Amino acid sequence: MEAIKLTEGLSYDDVLLLPGYSEILPKECNVQTTLCKGINLNVPIISAAMDTVTEEKLSIAIALEGGTGVIHRNLKPEEQARQVAGVKRFLNWIIESPVTIAHNAYVRDVRLLVDTFGVSGFPVVDADGVLMGIITNRDLRFCRDDSLPVTDVMISDVITAAGDITVERASEIFKKNRIEKLPVVDSERKLTGLITVTDMEKNHSFPNAAVDKNGRLIVGAAISPQDYKIRMPLLKKAKVDYVVLDTAHGDSKNVMEAVSQIKKEYKIPVIGGNVATKEGTRKLIDSGADAIKVGIGPGSICTTRIIAGIGVPQFTAVMDCAEEAVKSKIPVIADGGIKFSGDITKAIGAGASVVMIGNLFAGLKESPGSEIIYDGRIYKEYRGMGSMGAIADGAGDRYQIGKDEEPVPEGIEGRVPYKGELKFFLNQLVAGLRKGMGYCGCKSIAELNNYRKFVKITAAGLRESHPHDVQITQEAPNYSRL
Ligand code: XMP
Repeated sequence: MEAIKLTEGLSYDDVLLLPGYSEILPKECNVQTTLCKGINLNVPIISAAMDTVTEEKLSIAIALEGGTGVIHRNLKPEEQARQVAGVKRFLNWIIESPVTIAHNAYVRDVRLLVDTFGVSGFPVVDADGVLMGIITNRDLRFCRDDSLPVTDVMISDVITAAGDITVERASEIFKKNRIEKLPVVDSERKLTGLITVTDMEKNHSFPNAAVDKNGRLIVGAAISPQDYKIRMPLLKKAKVDYVVLDTAHGDSKNVMEAVSQIKKEYKIPVIGGNVATKEGTRKLIDSGADAIKVGIGPGSICTTRIIAGIGVPQFTAVMDCAEEAVKSKIPVIADGGIKFSGDITKAIGAGASVVMIGNLFAGLKESPGSEIIYDGRIYKEYRGMGSMGAIADGAGDRYQIGKDEEPVPEGIEGRVPYKGELKFFLNQLVAGLRKGMGYCGCKSIAELNNYRKFVKITAAGLRESHPHDVQITQEAPNYSRL
């Protein structure tokens, strides 16, 4: 029998970054990062694919602030795709397929379109898609006769733009002409898009938003080896930016096969996971994964390590996987176990490009979990995707539990304190990361990845790190022990 080689596994609480010479202030640090090939974020934080964390609302809120959400898959495929499409529609630069009205339609048809789509104006096009005019709420307001042809009521003298128009030029046109909609046409005057003043204003209000090349928010969706064949076509149609193979054991044959199959069939980046070893990381990369998600059992609601006796403490897992992934220039996402902003700094110091968060986001106003009042305080529901409740709602395949099998959960159900709006809380997390970067003199995420200076601490060191020998009388927005 071979002797067991015991290696050391460390968690975030076991280490601290060594402070180093600095010439920069936290606010000067650049926290932009790469999620995977072709997708850049303005903050290195994404929200977990969990049914008490990420649906449409939270995905919009986090992408507006520079991160991105992964919409969970405890939803019917059509509903998941509908939510992805909702995020993609929230912010536009040029709407690629605007709702139009035919030139031979009537005013009553326009009113029907207003009710169906909740949109306030439509380009009028002929059978070949050539722009004939525009009709808006303003034109309808004083029109009492619904049987009039659209062409009698529309404005024919429309100001248009070409497809290569810049944001600055569009702003000038809106301002100068006091219009609200600017149709985009090609050289034959065929309609190719629409720019609206509402979208322009939204774009101005969220300068840090994580957007694709068309100015739409970046969003991801969770899939599995069992359901990707149904979900992928719907998600592609909804214009999802990336998909996440959401499995508890990414170092598995069916996950590798799903990664390569999806890469072959679709031009959508695939994040593979979860793994916690160099070997698992290498195999996922060789299967074609565009980023690797790391974490077996660090999550606050996970019981995998206790139930199954496997796992790797998260700091070591991230460090090992990142050391392997960097050889192929593939980013690593540190998934789970983030308790405070300092853990984000440590995860990136260990080599991650991005962290994924469940617990800290579950209490936000935008998360889907229901609010609970307990002992006079507001909480929100937070549960593992391997918990009894989530399995009952369909999440069993993440933990290899068949529909008719007796569930053996790998997670628990609980509650976390209500935290208010994402914007303010995320700001605290990012500010904490910036402070860490400032202490290390690292100007960018890449510099922090390559800093490589940590000290291992003892239980006494950890006790000393937290507030001690005092009763907290006023909770800080970035420090709570529940
Ligand atoms: P945090 O620490 O942010 O972690 O709550 C969120 C991550 O935990 C994983 N996850 C689970 N792991 N059993 C597990 O072993 C579960 O029931 C479970 N649910 C979620 C997941 O990777 C998530 O992003």
